[in-house]
Amino acid sequence: MFGLYVHYPYCLQRCSYCDFATDLYKNEEKTKDYFSLLKREVLLSSHTLKDKELNSIYFGGGTPSLVPPDIMEDFFSFLLKQGFYWQKSCEISLEINPDTVDEEKLSEYIKIGFNRFSIGIQTFNDDLLKLVGRQHSAKQSRKNLEQLNKLDTNFSCDLLYSLPQQTFQQVLHDVGELISYQPKHFSPYILTIPPRHKLNEKRPGEEEQVKMMEAIKQALENKAYEQYEISNFALKGFHSRHNFHAWRGHSYWGIGMSAHSFFAKPKWGVRFANPNSIKSYAMILDKKKPGLAYQKDHHFVEELRRHEALTDFCHTSLRLRRGIDFHEIDKKFGPDLANLVIQRSKRKNITSFLETTPYGVRLNWHGIVFSNQVFEDFLFLEEDICHLDM
Ligand SMILES: C[S@@+](CC[C@H](N)C(=O)[O-])C[C@H]1O[C@@H](n2cnc3c(N)ncnc32)[C@H](O)[C@@H]1O
Ligand code: SF4
Repeated sequence: MFGLYVHYPYCLQRCSYCDFATDLYKNEEKTKDYFSLLKREVLLSSHTLKDKELNSIYFGGGTPSLVPPDIMEDFFSFLLKQGFYWQKSCEISLEINPDTVDEEKLSEYIKIGFNRFSIGIQTFNDDLLKLVGRQHSAKQSRKNLEQLNKLDTNFSCDLLYSLPQQTFQQVLHDVGELISYQPKHFSPYILTIPPRHKLNEKRPGEEEQVKMMEAIKQALENKAYEQYEISNFALKGFHSRHNFHAWRGHSYWGIGMSAHSFFAKPKWGVRFANPNSIKSYAMILDKKKPGLAYQKDHHFVEELRRHEALTDFCHTSLRLRRGIDFHEIDKKFGPDLANLVIQRSKRKNITSFLETTPYGVRLNWHGIVFSNQVFEDFLFLEEDICHLDM
């Protein structure tokens, strides 16, 4: 089983803080052309996949809620024709922007199989939305949230905080209002932009940012949302399966412009990515011969070595509430590497960021706030492990 990620690059706007690979939406024809490229990518490689059972399908972007439901339906039929299949329990997610759906469109998505929506609310403050270049208004967000509730479907909300001029009270208000719509899942993100970005002006200071983070966590935990990952909270049983699989080192195939993939085999796993523009994406599809999903001539391909796989394992495990399981490392990488990780977790500079669990260690609250510092200590170089046995 593996997860399928489909990247849809078009957006109605270019939000000034966004670093994702996107392009301005022009018309439905371009969307149809893009889906033809996606199908070509699948056709070129699907015969090489032995196992075609999907455990999650995720449409991300960009703004995939700009895709008309009939195009989505046609794509699902195409996947089935190519031998892919999924159980009823398969999580089929769609990222949506508040200004792009209404009740009818949402019902159609549900009818064709989508069972989870992730809506980019960001904030309910219209001035702030305008300031960061969003087209939607708080009124449109509220309307969509009501529609999602009326349709009784599973949805998640993205919240963006530490915006320029944003106050602590405004953040508290945003979380409180979002909770009132009872989403099953929350992803609060701290605005992350390069140091010289114009949105850095008048942003809350570091101390204020930590206060905001703490307040969000408190408000969500009071309502039974568990912080199962650094930026993700969910009610019991509602964590995002798509992300969870990726963090647990399971395979996922990303198709479309700029999509990233990870195949857990062969050896220590392979990461690969498609080009960042539609033109170059179309070009590699023209040149590619039927065969493996990743071909060194056309993709950025990284075959992981043991130390890189160990680093990835520790970093993704630390992002999760369950943390690093020393027995799992023993099983996957051998007792010497498990021992090395145990020694690292005892380093004086990081013990105050970690707490022990029955099977290993995980970040404590202090560690979540300063996770990047902790990750540095779990970075393994070839020379750290080359003398150690499996
Ligand atoms: C892949 S984006 C696309 C979602 C959708 N197009 C939207 O903007 O609503 C998913 C989420 O990443 C978050 N995000 C995007 N840019 C960010 C940034 N520079 N810093 C922090 N979070 C960001 C936003 O909360 C956004 O909803
Ligand atoms: S709508 Fe979403 S993906 Fe598109 S530019 Fe804005 S933040 Fe980026």
